[in-house]
Amino acid sequence: MPIYHKLGKIPHKRHTVFPRGKTGFHYEELFGTEGFSGMSSLLYHLHRPTQVKAIRKSTDINPEIAVKHNIRSMLLSGFDVPPATDFLQSRKVILLNSDLWIGLAAPQKSMKDYFYKNADADELLFIHKGKGILHTFMGQIPFSYGDYLIIPRGMIYQIEFSTKENRIFFVESFSPIYTPKRYRNEFGQLLEHSPFCERDIRLPSNLETIDRKGEFVIKIKKENQLHELVYASHPFDVAGWDGYNFPYAFSIHDFEPITGRVHQPPPVHQNFEANNFVVCSFCPRLYDYHPESIPAPYNHSNIGSDEVLYYVDGDFMSRNNIKEGNLTLHPKGIPHGPAPGAMERSIGQKETKELAVMVDTFRPLMVTKEALKIDDGKYFTSWTE
Ligand SMILES: [Fe+2]
Repeated sequence: MPIYHKLGKIPHKRHTVFPRGKTGFHYEELFGTEGFSGMSSLLYHLHRPTQVKAIRKSTDINPEIAVKHNIRSMLLSGFDVPPATDFLQSRKVILLNSDLWIGLAAPQKSMKDYFYKNADADELLFIHKGKGILHTFMGQIPFSYGDYLIIPRGMIYQIEFSTKENRIFFVESFSPIYTPKRYRNEFGQLLEHSPFCERDIRLPSNLETIDRKGEFVIKIKKENQLHELVYASHPFDVAGWDGYNFPYAFSIHDFEPITGRVHQPPPVHQNFEANNFVVCSFCPRLYDYHPESIPAPYNHSNIGSDEVLYYVDGDFMSRNNIKEGNLTLHPKGIPHGPAPGAMERSIGQKETKELAVMVDTFRPLMVTKEALKIDDGKYFTSWTE
């Protein structure tokens, strides 16, 4: 995140002595993404962050692919993904390629007896239902309905829910997730035409510094395996940190839609980007104000990208019979457009209450067995009159 932030106590100069008590020291760690040239932060631990006591089991968590080469438009019923008590077990990957995994989760309980680290991917957790606190070794972030939580890879975290009914749409990105470059100046500051600004980005606070030794399990996702490592000190032992690499939250309700006299294309809704995909937020907004405008989108040929839309709330103007928690996939190679009647229905309308998250991927998506369990099977014919 191109914002400098710091919490807790840090020494005046980096890479210098930072005493702890009369005889001890803090232990510095560079926490970076993309080697030593990407975003990074410097952390000061009470104990060495390297104290592995044991390596327990490793579990293969590769999603099972059902359709490798997909040409079928699909409608998935996201709320039919069954809830599970454990956060990691609740996560079901439904679509994937070599750039990202897309999934749904309905976790019921907070993560308490272990910590989690995704060493493969930045995570985007979109909170559709539920409330709680993301605890990390860099501070806490309270979250609720409509929040995107952006968690850089390598972050050690626990997620605490104060609600039992939780629904999450998530993306695991194998490259860092950033805000769109075209909305930032050469220094990284968000420009005046950006649909959001730094004030909308919620940074971690309430740094917990826990000085405890014992046995602490961190489940580490690496190369699609979940490894269980036991560490000798509590992972949240950071006394202070500063830098640019940290988790943050952004509420979809803070996205300011860009509108026009005629229909604006999807890039105006863009919220995030990573290598070979973008994430867009479709928010309640006034419709186009040309007297003869057609607010519904025109048919479009997504020859260059697979398009995933996750429906959050409100009536989605271009579709028929869409419910919250539904997800559509429009694969590259064939055009799609508004459902029959949606174009005619939109003419003369003044506003939309739709709320949705879109992920456009530039490489085709494979479909998993988990996706087929919630697939309606007939959506691809829904344009045929
Ligand atoms: Fe589309």
